[in-house]
Amino acid sequence: MDPQKIQENFALVGANGVDVAEYFYADLFAREPGLRSMFPSAMSKQHEVLLAALSQIVSSVDDPDALVPFLQDLGRRHHGFGVAGDHYAPVGASLLATLAHFSGPEWNEDLERDWTAAYGLVAKVMTEAVAVS
Ligand code: HEM
Repeated sequence: MDPQKIQENFALVGANGVDVAEYFYADLFAREPGLRSMFPSAMSKQHEVLLAALSQIVSSVDDPDALVPFLQDLGRRHHGFGVAGDHYAPVGASLLATLAHFSGPEWNEDLERDWTAAYGLVAKVMTEAVAVS
């Protein structure tokens, strides 16, 4: 995994602001309609907190001392929201689809591989935090 490539790609994608979160949730709810009812009907706050959390994760992707506790707390809160281990795969698929969409011609196999690895680690730390808490 190349942290710098992930950070550069997220800077490119994140420049689209809230459109990124809107696209992500539209993709997720089309992919897995059953997940819609887990979220509030008004999603604007959720759009903001998702983008803020992704920025935080990406900025500390090369700093496990900061990243791991952040993800463990996030994972425990998600357990409280009713999120289970098998919810992470569709969310990962929608995240990758969103990144690919906003990256346009910049998207390539290396980025896909790096983001897949990064999201896999995020999901692992979040879900394992629940198992040991
Ligand atoms: C990269 C992985 C994820 C990130 C960065 C993320 C980020 C966030 C953030 C920042 C919040 C606000 C509450 C808080 O901070 O505790 C939140 C809430 C929530 N997330 Fe996630 N999330 C992720 C994965 C997932 C997955 C896999 C699901 C499964 C469907 C999910 C469903 C939810 C739900 C249901 C809420 C609560 C909404 C509400 O009732 O207000 N998230 N998420």
